[in-house]
Amino acid sequence: MKFLITAGPTREPIDPVRYLSNRSSGKMGYAIAEAALETGHEVILISGPVNLTPPDGAKLISVATSDEMFDAVHRHARDCAILVMCAAVADYKPARVSRQKIKKRDQTLSLELIPTRDILASLPQDRQFIVIGFAAETENVEENARQKLRDKNCDMIIANNVSSSDSGMESDENEVTIFFRDGERQRISRAPKKIIARELVKIFLNAREKRLTKKT
Ligand code: CTP
Repeated sequence: MKFLITAGPTREPIDPVRYLSNRSSGKMGYAIAEAALETGHEVILISGPVNLTPPDGAKLISVATSDEMFDAVHRHARDCAILVMCAAVADYKPARVSRQKIKKRDQTLSLELIPTRDILASLPQDRQFIVIGFAAETENVEENARQKLRDKNCDMIIANNVSSSDSGMESDENEVTIFFRDGERQRISRAPKKIIARELVKIFLNAREKRLTKKT
C-alpha cells in the first residue's frame, strides 16, 4: 500500500537570509514513515527542512515553503492509499518577500503576513485515499481537534498537547489522542515516537480496511 507522509516545518522567506518557521523536528512524521516501511508498505515522504536521515526505502521529496508542500501533496495524493499530514505547515507567510536583505534601522519594523493555503482543506471531498490530520494544541485539545476534523474533512485527527516540553514538538516522546469521524476516540499513552508510530500505522491500515469493506 502507498503511504504519502508529510513531515517537519515549512519555511516562509522574508528576505534572502531570513524566514518564518516553527519548532517542528519532523521526528513524528519520520517515525511513521519508518513504521510503514517496516511493515512492507511503500512510502513517499514530503519533508520540510529537518536534521534527520530519511528511513531507508522511503522516496524523499524535499520542500521548503508551504506552497512547495502544497504542490507536492497534490502531485502525489491521487495515487496513494493513506495520506498522513504530519507536517507543521506555516499558517502565515510574508505578504512580500524582499529581494534584498532588509537592513537594520532604528525604527520598529512590521511584517505584513498573509494566510498560506490550507493543504488538508484543499483536498477533494470525493477521494479514494484516507486522510489523517494532526492537531498541535496548547489548550482545549479535544474541542479544537474535533473542530479541525470537521473543518478540514479528515478521516481522523491525531491530537497532541504541545504545551509541555516533554511531549510533542522536538521531543522524542509523545502522547496522542485519535479522534474519528464517527465520534470514537482512542488514546495512546506516553511512549517514544517510534512506538507511537507503529500503533498509528496499525490504526491507519485498519481504517483503510474498514473503508474498503464498506465500499464493496
Ligand atoms: N495544515 C495544512 N495546511 C496548512 C496548515 C496546516 O494542511 N496551511 C495541516 C497540518 O499538516 C495538520 C493540520 O492541518 O495536519 C492541523 O494543523 P494545526 O497547525 O494544528 O492547525 P491549524 O489549521 O494551523 O490551526 P491553528 O494553528 O489555529 O490551531
